[in-house]
Amino acid sequence: MTFSFKSFISWAFLLIMLMQFIPLNRINPPIVSDIHAPDLVKKGLKRSCYDCHSNETRWPDFAYIAPASWLASNIVASGRTALNFSVWNHKKLAKIRKVISDMPAHQQLYYLWKPDAKLTVTETRALQEWTN
Ligand code: HEC
Repeated sequence: MTFSFKSFISWAFLLIMLMQFIPLNRINPPIVSDIHAPDLVKKGLKRSCYDCHSNETRWPDFAYIAPASWLASNIVASGRTALNFSVWNHKKLAKIRKVISDMPAHQQLYYLWKPDAKLTVTETRALQEWTN
């Protein structure tokens, strides 16, 4: 049997169609105890961190199409496991301080894709003060 380019494309297309039926864990569970913090701190966290570290994820359009959706839901699931501002307890402050102080290293791809989500200089300073 010769394997033509046309049949490869057909099979690939079919596979991608079938992938769409695999159910996803792409939900925003209820907020249990949202974090209390000064306005500037909260604003920075919301814009910069909440997509992965809260139950208020703003899912992008591509998060509805497999296989990109699998990647997005995986990152959010592990982000929420590591730190979730919607079920906040104060034990994570030191770790947050560490991530903030070395911010360019955390989730570079996300901030390349969404440069607006980057913390501003004033937000960074407010967050550093708040975590101290
Ligand atoms: C694109 C998703 C994403 C964004 C945006 C994001 N994070 Fe994370 N974060 C993760 C993931 C995934 C992990 C778990 C794996 C790891 O440690 O890298 C994590 C881990 C962490 C941890 C735990 C580190 C540890 O050692 O336990 C802290 C603290 C943290 N992030 C803080 C932040 C802060 C603060 C922001 C916003 C300024 C932020 N993150 C933005 C995805 C994200």
